[in-house]
Amino acid sequence: MSKRRAVITGVGGYVPEDILSNQDIEKMVDTSDEWIVTRTGIKERRILRGKDQGTSVMGTEATRNVLQKTNTNPEDIELVICATTTPDMIFPATANLIAEQIGAVNSFGYDLQAACSGFLYALTTGAKFIESGTYQKVLVVGADKMSSIINYEDRTTCIIFGDGAGAVLLEPTEEPLGVIDSVLRSDGSGAPHLHLKAGGSRRPATIETVMAKEHFVYQEGAAVFKYDVMHMADVSAQIMERNNLTGEEVAWLVPHQANKRIIDATANRMGLDQDRVMYTIHKYGNTTSATIPLNLWEYESQLKKGDNLVFAAFGGGFTWGATYVKWGYDG
Ligand code: UT7
Repeated sequence: MSKRRAVITGVGGYVPEDILSNQDIEKMVDTSDEWIVTRTGIKERRILRGKDQGTSVMGTEATRNVLQKTNTNPEDIELVICATTTPDMIFPATANLIAEQIGAVNSFGYDLQAACSGFLYALTTGAKFIESGTYQKVLVVGADKMSSIINYEDRTTCIIFGDGAGAVLLEPTEEPLGVIDSVLRSDGSGAPHLHLKAGGSRRPATIETVMAKEHFVYQEGAAVFKYDVMHMADVSAQIMERNNLTGEEVAWLVPHQANKRIIDATANRMGLDQDRVMYTIHKYGNTTSATIPLNLWEYESQLKKGDNLVFAAFGGGFTWGATYVKWGYDG
């Protein structure tokens, strides 16, 4: 009997209209377009503006986009998983807010927080609900409003991050397609290098935490870079090896977009030329949980049924992983 797998049957995306270019940032902090492009590959990023506009606004748009493209009735959705590090509120879950907005009245939902690896963790767990035979239609969303936790006076972080959302629909298939395998890892000893100091239960918000700017991303860039390059390349090589995939057999690397130099090092380790690597970092920056589905959204028209895709990510935690996906339809 053939194995029941979870296949991606559609992709949606959303980025806010407002563009924050390197030239705009040059006016805010001591940096240059040349430095940012050379060190990161980023030229611009999108920012969600407006009062009371949270991550769910973008997650809802991305989700509506995939429902509309796949002609799916929201009432048929059974589960919504939202990977996010910037939920609208500590509770309720952003997934609940999205489900309510799209009319997924027969679903349950929850948020999954694994920083930049969140989408991979969510995709893997969403796929398990399908593989087990429990559900037929699962939405996996990656959405982050990073601008809500960035200090625009800190040149080491404000150049990197942007806002956006992507979503995929998972459905069952008996064909040898879909989410084939994942290697997921985490290591809490990485926390000191990349975290948000206050606003959680350890250091609830006070006037002092606000004054000390402890509600913004704290990152030791060079240390994170070192672990990122090593782990993302390792895990990508590992997933290829255990699925007997050679570099020639991988159609696309779908990497988290933290830094172009990290992406290129991973591709190099996998034996892939740049024309088989998805890049959106130049125009969206690092959108945390949204980078991987936004890559798919941008490159969907170039994907073919049966293509071997390796998704790879690294982020705060530390968290990291790679997922082998056999693409389900011609774009
Ligand atoms: O997605 C989650 C995981 N995150 C990542 O993977 C991020 C990984 N880290 C990085 O991408 C890079 O470390 C950064 C892009 C954050 C920084 O690049 P770097 O090449 O590692 O620079 P650095 O931190 O080693 O700093 C080198 C110099 C420093 O000056 P000095 O001390 O050598 O005088 C920094 O102060 O560059 C300076 N610098 C800047 N200069 C101009 C740092 N940020 C800037 C800036 N503009 N925006």
